[in-house]
Amino acid sequence: MARKIAFLNYKGGVGKTSLIVNTAAALVKAGKRVLLCDFDTQSNASIWLLKLDRWNTINAANGGSVYSIFENKAHLRDLIVRNVVEGKGGDKLLPGLDLVPTTFNLVDLENEYTGDPKRPPYLIFQEQLASIEADYDFVLFDCPPNILRASQCGVFSANEICVPANPDALSLIGFTLLIEKLQKFHMLSASFRRASMGPPAQVTSIVFNAIKTGVDIEVPKMRMQLRLNQFRAAKRVAPNAKILDTQIRDAMVVRRAVTLGLPVVLVGQDANDPGQDNVVSDYRKLTLELLNQAAG
Ligand SMILES: Nc1ncnc2c1ncn2[C@@H]1O[C@H](COP(=O)(O)OP(=O)(O)OP(=O)(O)O)[C@@H](O)[C@H]1O
Ligand SMILES: [Mg+2]
Repeated sequence: MARKIAFLNYKGGVGKTSLIVNTAAALVKAGKRVLLCDFDTQSNASIWLLKLDRWNTINAANGGSVYSIFENKAHLRDLIVRNVVEGKGGDKLLPGLDLVPTTFNLVDLENEYTGDPKRPPYLIFQEQLASIEADYDFVLFDCPPNILRASQCGVFSANEICVPANPDALSLIGFTLLIEKLQKFHMLSASFRRASMGPPAQVTSIVFNAIKTGVDIEVPKMRMQLRLNQFRAAKRVAPNAKILDTQIRDAMVVRRAVTLGLPVVLVGQDANDPGQDNVVSDYRKLTLELLNQAAG
């Protein structure tokens, strides 16, 4: 069974998309098959990985993105963009990284969508994913900073939640809010849960992201740890939930990678030199930590 991880925090802009794209790429470099599902209406991960031209084609066609499955226009398996990262000549730069793309119409799921209440969108998505997930070692869900309908698809299908955080009070508030909303969603969706789906997603990891050189993050880290301890004692996060030892440094190349339409592991000459201490080695370490962390 694939490990299914939603990247989520109620605080926006903490680096969910950067973290998921770069971690997905690092997992592929470590030999894993990864499916990244974009559930953010901003489509940041999709635009990044497809680059604008290919994404524009899907957006203009008003089909081919994840919203199509809720309109009964397509099956999830037909939407997957296989080996999504391409060079200028269409050469496959990162075989093994597949994408379920989204386009701006995903926002309609929140308002205009009038599907059968007995078959909420998260159930439709989960059923279709179940038929293809055996092809993958990891399925990762990029979510917006909420648990509205689009995000619910990722949360319901996932068994683990990774919380990207910055060392500030707002990230801590975002994490706290996430735990409250998560509990409500699990209660709301409990009647649709089957044993074969595995446990409902709980927070398993917190990752500090975009840490500037010379900035001491011990105090915000300690506050986050205290909050995590409280939630663990109350059984509101996974028993093995932890702040990962790896933290991702703030690095210009992370922002530049978006412009280039490439994950950071493919940018720069020394990107794959294991001897280098840089942001790529942070993502590599994070990947190893995730691989070592027991699922559930
Ligand atoms: N390690 C990093 N170093 C430098 N810049 C970073 C790093 N991580 C993220 N950023 C930058 O911070 C900004 C926000 O990151 P990102 O879009 O990944 O956040 P997000 O949590 O997905 O946001 P949203 O809530 O809008 O989906 C982006 O401009 C991104 O390039
Ligand atoms: Mg994002």
